[in-house]
Amino acid sequence: MKKTILLFTLSLVLINCKTAVKKEKTIGLVTQKAMVVSAREEASKIGTDILKKGGNAFDAMVATELALAVAFPYAGNIGGGGFMVYRKNDGEIGALDYREKAPLASSKDMFLDTDRNVIKGKSTFGSMAVGIPGTVAGVFEAHRKFGTLPMEEILQPVIELAKRGVIVTKKQEKRIQNFQSGFLKVNKDSILFNKNWKENDTIKYNALAATLTRIQKNGSDEFYKGETAEKLVSFIQANGGIMTLEDLAKYKAKWRTPITFNYDDLRIISMSPPSSGGICLAQIMNAIEPYDLDKFGHNSTKAIQVITEAERRAYADRSFFLGDPDFVKIPLKTLISKEYIAGRMNDFSFDKATKSEDVSHGSIKMTESDETTHYSIVDQFGNAISATTTINAGYGSKLYSSELGFFLNNEMDDFSSKTGVPNMFGLIGAKANEIAPEKRMLSSMTPTIVEKNGQLFMVVGTPGGSTIITSVLQTILNVHEYKMSMKEAVNASRFHHQWLPDNIKMEPDGFSTEIKTNLKNLGYNLDETNSPVIGKVAAILVLPNGKLEGGADKRGDDAAVGF
Ligand code: DON
Repeated sequence: MKKTILLFTLSLVLINCKTAVKKEKTIGLVTQKAMVVSAREEASKIGTDILKKGGNAFDAMVATELALAVAFPYAGNIGGGGFMVYRKNDGEIGALDYREKAPLASSKDMFLDTDRNVIKGKSTFGSMAVGIPGTVAGVFEAHRKFGTLPMEEILQPVIELAKRGVIVTKKQEKRIQNFQSGFLKVNKDSILFNKNWKENDTIKYNALAATLTRIQKNGSDEFYKGETAEKLVSFIQANGGIMTLEDLAKYKAKWRTPITFNYDDLRIISMSPPSSGGICLAQIMNAIEPYDLDKFGHNSTKAIQVITEAERRAYADRSFFLGDPDFVKIPLKTLISKEYIAGRMNDFSFDKATKSEDVSHGSIKMTESDETTHYSIVDQFGNAISATTTINAGYGSKLYSSELGFFLNNEMDDFSSKTGVPNMFGLIGAKANEIAPEKRMLSSMTPTIVEKNGQLFMVVGTPGGSTIITSVLQTILNVHEYKMSMKEAVNASRFHHQWLPDNIKMEPDGFSTEIKTNLKNLGYNLDETNSPVIGKVAAILVLPNGKLEGGADKRGDDAAVGF
């Protein structure tokens, strides 16, 4: 008896100790009703102001996307494209594809020399790298279908921001400095960004303000058929590019069916092809679901092993099967089925790393009918939007129209220029993602919405090229498996594996020496030098009391704003 009491008391003391040392959660901004999280406070604020005026998430999407084009020229854009996934308050879901397309005059081998070698820089710098931009079509289409406030009213604060100018942050000062040689190499004349901009300077975007004012007046046609279209095509052709007025006139944003799947008690809604995001996320999450990740512990050796091996196999499939669904047949149902993934993980063992050279794409009978920024929005009506938009590399192709006031994307590099030759993210592609006129290049963008018990739970996404998918994955797992707050989940250290190259990219200083030694001993190659940061997540979590918590990544100038 005495012994029992002693044991009981001891365990109470232990429990108390455990509670006493349990770290307090670090919480992001919490608001009652509505929130926008994006890469710049100015954009989050403009989006939130639209909500305050009574606009819905779709109105706020237009405002935030275009405000990012002004405040975050590194990746925000009207010269690029993106994807948006939505979930309305009645549970209706959908996805909008405003991805760039290859020009009509493009061809499979356009980036190869006469010896069939990839010409360095042709798909990444200057006019040939540019895909037909989709952003303006995207925001107008979202607004046409679901918007409530007049477009003129939504665009007004964006135009005012461009005229008033945006304050340079420390991070932006560094970026502009780092990209000087690219700007000089690509542009014939000096551009707005060639100046030695310093932190706290204000950059005014008058040319962009004029372009946006014409769009405000004439609608989407201004960009695709009007004066802006004409100026854009002359500019690109004067710089040796192949975009034509016909290319612009033919561009249309497309509604797509999102990828959906379950993980434990969560339902994940994510982007469908031409992004690989939703399919790869589904494959990885299906592969890891049977393992006790929470018991293994966050970023523990075992958790990193399971996730890495699932990622290795998913990215091998990505490179073979995925491309624009309007051009290639994708065995989608099989790829995201639990059975198929279970088979792919059969040869995984905790004792030893699988070698990527021993992993190829899965064998599937084709019987089925083939620099970036993210923002997340929840409005006061309960509608949610997750949108990722890009011009690909930082400042895209570096080609900047001083007359129109924006950078052009270098999205053509997201195609596979040649089978087996890695693109700028080290991704290997094959036939499914080869270049063809009017085809959309494969993407990794993963705008995602998560439901729990049928209710909105999380809105999440990030930039980061090939690391987008795995950053979204880890953010969801951090909340679901490891019970982190939204802010903690977004800020936690990240790692990434993409089949080839066969190494685990890790954020430096994010992982203990013990974990790294364990992984090396198991045969994993670690790469801590190439990715000072992995992803820059912008997310919103619905708390059990219905309030919203923002996750604005510490890695950027990101900000959550709401009410
Ligand atoms: O669509 C894609 O997957 C790429 N163009 C995304 C580029 C990106 O995230 C760059 N940002 N870090």
